[in-house]
Amino acid sequence: MIRLGWMLLPLALAACMPEDQPTGAEDFATYCAACHGSSGKGDGPGAAGLDQRPVDLTQLSARDGGEFPGTRVMAKIWGYTGRDSASAMPQFGPLLQGELVPYDGGDGIATPTPVRLVQLAEYVRLLQGK
Ligand code: HEC
Repeated sequence: MIRLGWMLLPLALAACMPEDQPTGAEDFATYCAACHGSSGKGDGPGAAGLDQRPVDLTQLSARDGGEFPGTRVMAKIWGYTGRDSASAMPQFGPLLQGELVPYDGGDGIATPTPVRLVQLAEYVRLLQGK
């Protein structure tokens, strides 16, 4: 079930993406790499000035028993777009623009989710073990 969902996701994304919309990799470079590093290892130039070390995003599955914690990752990214987050992570308003697509982070519940956030979560999933 879950595996099939992941396999279909890129197709679903490709089908509903306008030509000029940034890819997950591009959005990661724009919004995430400053802290998490271009490779996601948490060693971006902005990491030095933070109280809390940005998480090594390549080790999320490894630290979670081998399963990518997709629901938690999405909650984290999406949560940061909210107003009253205490996290060092900034808000990502532009990432909420665009279509809503069903996202199932692994708990079997598909939630309508802004497509650019889905692309980002998918990009972070592909970073695992890198
Ligand atoms: C200003 C620096 C900064 C930026 C920019 C930033 N992060 Fe983070 N991120 C952090 C810090 C610090 C933590 C650890 C503390 C926390 O969880 O809030 C974190 C935690 C996370 C986590 C939690 C991992 C876990 O174990 O649950 C995820 C996922 C994440 N970031 C993804 C992203 C993504 C995707 C982006 C780009 C859209 C991004 N971050 C941009 C600083 C940043």
